[in-house]
Amino acid sequence: MIITGKYPNLRLRRNRKNDWARRLVQENSLSVNDLILPIFVIDGKNKKESIKTMPGVYRYSVDKIPTILDKAIKYKIPMVALFPYTNKKLKDSLGFEALNENNLVCRSIRLIKKKYKNKIGIMCDVALDPYTSHGHDGILQNGKVLNDETVEILVKQSLLQAEMGCDVIAPSDMMDGRVGKIRKALDKNNFKDIQILSYAAKYASGFYGPFRDAVGSKKSLKGDKKTYQMDYSNSQEALREIKLDIIEGADIVMVKPGMPYLDIIKSIKENFKIPVFAYQVSGEYSLIKNAIDKKIINKNCIIESLTGFKRAGATAVVTYFADQIAKYLK
Ligand code: PBG
Repeated sequence: MIITGKYPNLRLRRNRKNDWARRLVQENSLSVNDLILPIFVIDGKNKKESIKTMPGVYRYSVDKIPTILDKAIKYKIPMVALFPYTNKKLKDSLGFEALNENNLVCRSIRLIKKKYKNKIGIMCDVALDPYTSHGHDGILQNGKVLNDETVEILVKQSLLQAEMGCDVIAPSDMMDGRVGKIRKALDKNNFKDIQILSYAAKYASGFYGPFRDAVGSKKSLKGDKKTYQMDYSNSQEALREIKLDIIEGADIVMVKPGMPYLDIIKSIKENFKIPVFAYQVSGEYSLIKNAIDKKIINKNCIIESLTGFKRAGATAVVTYFADQIAKYLK
């Protein structure tokens, strides 16, 4: 970098002297177009249930989804992500409920598409953890999560979600080869326009704690997910994961968690020409939210944290703050 001039001729503070001057030289900014809102759904009627570990976030029964969707559409949030809290009785070791066309996610997609048509995008996780009795993302056999057998079920789960009207299929399971198999199956079944958003660089992280509470897989999870999710010490490996998913047909790749992994977002952006999304996960949300509620930090920290993703190179962010800040951003 060439710097022309030096102090006292050069004073970087001139460009920061007041609000209008700062706005003119701003390099990145956050808008509502950058936000994806996760929604937790639960069985029952007329329910809006708070989640202890995620203050300000709720589980909605399917009939109550419009209360949050109306808001999302009013503020022009481009997409929602659906996550089910599955009744324990419906869970089994193979996660069969994932393939039930009347499961919570399928019912939610149908309702949203019927009521709102194409006013908002729907993305759905492809993984078995909300449905398995052991809480793993795939089939567990003798303590091992099986790759190829799991992928076969994930392909069926993807096709089912596509049939229901899901716009963006988001494999979050970290099995090898699943993006290619899902792409092939979608194309073969006339779902050529359905996007695949791959959770390509997903780390085995402690920051998912509150989410597992929100979908009810926390108590059931046996062991950890280190044999399929990535080691948080690695970055080269993330580029390999990304490259493979691009070759297999991903339209968008995601990095998850968010804030501790800004370097990964940046290096993907530098190495590949593909949209990169970030996931500000549940643990990050709860940390910031609790600190704001206790007046340890102020609300601006939400915008600051999200703008950080933009600066690193993310084009959009999945965040539980989406509905809370959309009004402010508009
Ligand atoms: C499931 C999945 C997880 C999250 C999104 N999809 C949890 C996990 O992998 O254990 C975490 C999201 C969050 O913490 O906000 N495959």
